[in-house]
Amino acid sequence: MSVTFTLSSATATTVKTELLAVPVFAGRVLGPGADAVGRAVGGLVEFMEETGFEGKPGETLAVPTAGRLGAKAVVLIGMGGRDEITIDGLRRAAAAVAKKAAKVSSVATTLLDAAPKAIDRAAAAQAIAEGATLGSYQFLKYKGDAKPTKLRRVVIIGPGGSRVRAAVDRGVAVAGAVSWARDLVNEPAEAKSPVAIVAAARRLLRDTGVRVTVLDDKQIAQERLGGIVGVGKGSQRPPRLLKLVYAPRGAQRTLALVGKGVVFDSGGLSLKTAGGMETMKTDMSGAAAVIAAMSVLRDLGVRERVIGFTPLVENMPSGNAIRPGDVLKIRNGKTVEVLNTDAEGRLILADALSLAVEAKVDAIVDLATLTGACVVALGEKYAGLMGNHEGFNSQVRAAADRVDESVWPLPLPKEYRKLLDSEIADLRNISTGSYGGTLTAGLFLREFVGDTPWVHLDIAGPARAASEDGHIARGGTGFGVRTLVELATSFTKPTPSGK
Ligand code: BES
Ligand code: MN
Ligand code: ZN
Repeated sequence: MSVTFTLSSATATTVKTELLAVPVFAGRVLGPGADAVGRAVGGLVEFMEETGFEGKPGETLAVPTAGRLGAKAVVLIGMGGRDEITIDGLRRAAAAVAKKAAKVSSVATTLLDAAPKAIDRAAAAQAIAEGATLGSYQFLKYKGDAKPTKLRRVVIIGPGGSRVRAAVDRGVAVAGAVSWARDLVNEPAEAKSPVAIVAAARRLLRDTGVRVTVLDDKQIAQERLGGIVGVGKGSQRPPRLLKLVYAPRGAQRTLALVGKGVVFDSGGLSLKTAGGMETMKTDMSGAAAVIAAMSVLRDLGVRERVIGFTPLVENMPSGNAIRPGDVLKIRNGKTVEVLNTDAEGRLILADALSLAVEAKVDAIVDLATLTGACVVALGEKYAGLMGNHEGFNSQVRAAADRVDESVWPLPLPKEYRKLLDSEIADLRNISTGSYGGTLTAGLFLREFVGDTPWVHLDIAGPARAASEDGHIARGGTGFGVRTLVELATSFTKPTPSGK
């Protein structure tokens, strides 16, 4: 069950919900609604002082109301400096509201009026809807003592017309897509074979204007998708390739989205350590983000064509698994000497990128939990961004920045390309050197996109969160969904010059 939002012109002191959440700025400056609450209950500033509540982001404080308000209880939400409030700050504050309201069915909040004039009101409303929905996210399917949130209704207080209402609806849609991706990432690998992911995608995409085509293992081989065949061989559970097409009437351009879908990465015969495998059910996060993002394109009014390719495989060791030293032929005809079966993501992406190029798209973005080295370089919260077209790199970077998903550019140095030279094939799948593994993985992928403008996002870090952080829950984060949706909404054809 999900949370529904209503916009209301009620006042903070009279609104009839179980909980009222009001913002307080740094230095205990009472925000909209909090001032009126203070007058009604009295002694608010003293109470904040006694309890050490300062109004910093992430701080909350429950306040006794002695029945003097319409709402049964009040919670103060720390916001930080009044002039430093950002869209992401509102998203995080809304997540805090939802968490504080987990034991009640309804909460009202004056957060929208905390946004400074410089922030677009609709954008603020969308962020609040996203934050409150994602802050309510839980994955409880396998918990015996599950305590699901009781929150069902969020009342956003403050003036807002149809533009604000539409923005709230967009926020709910986007957060729903993010939650779907999180659920699939959090699901144990046992329950998400390639076949099962296809079924889940079909269910999600029914009545969304997205056409679903699936290649089974036979067709994958017939179509000469040698990377997917090679990586998939070791598993009892056969690979699939999902092709998703969103083609609205009047579209002029086509954006391709490619997502790595390794349902479990054991490393194959180049077996990972036990610890290294613990989180490898999340190695399909790129595919989950692509499928989820495509499910809301029509609702968000995206006008350009978007096609998704997600290769789905399980990387397992077995008597039939690909061996170090084996050579694969990728869809575009290039041969790859597989010297480490744990560098499998690039092999399946090579096929999918080749297909996207064949489809004559205007640009490609791929998302992949590709290298541990990227987590070493950028930490757990930043995705690495690489690409072959400066202008498109900037376009993707700007989309990510607008939705507050952290990405940072990394280079694709030509002088490192020779680290991928093979003695017997066109390429080897791991570098001969020890460093810069994220960059050589990016250079490997580059071999399969030709001149098509392309961005690679290495999401090995942010696809999963080790601890809760605002609207981000522990486990699968759904990273990339919001960036992809934003990019699809604003997509413009990259220039031929490459700038
Ligand atoms: N799925 C992993 C990358 C990964 C590691 C994601 C840790 C998230 C957390 C990928 O398939 C992999 O195993 N990469 C190898 C590449 C190496 C063999 C060149 C790696 O990063 O060690
Ligand atoms: Mn691997
Ligand atoms: Zn992997």
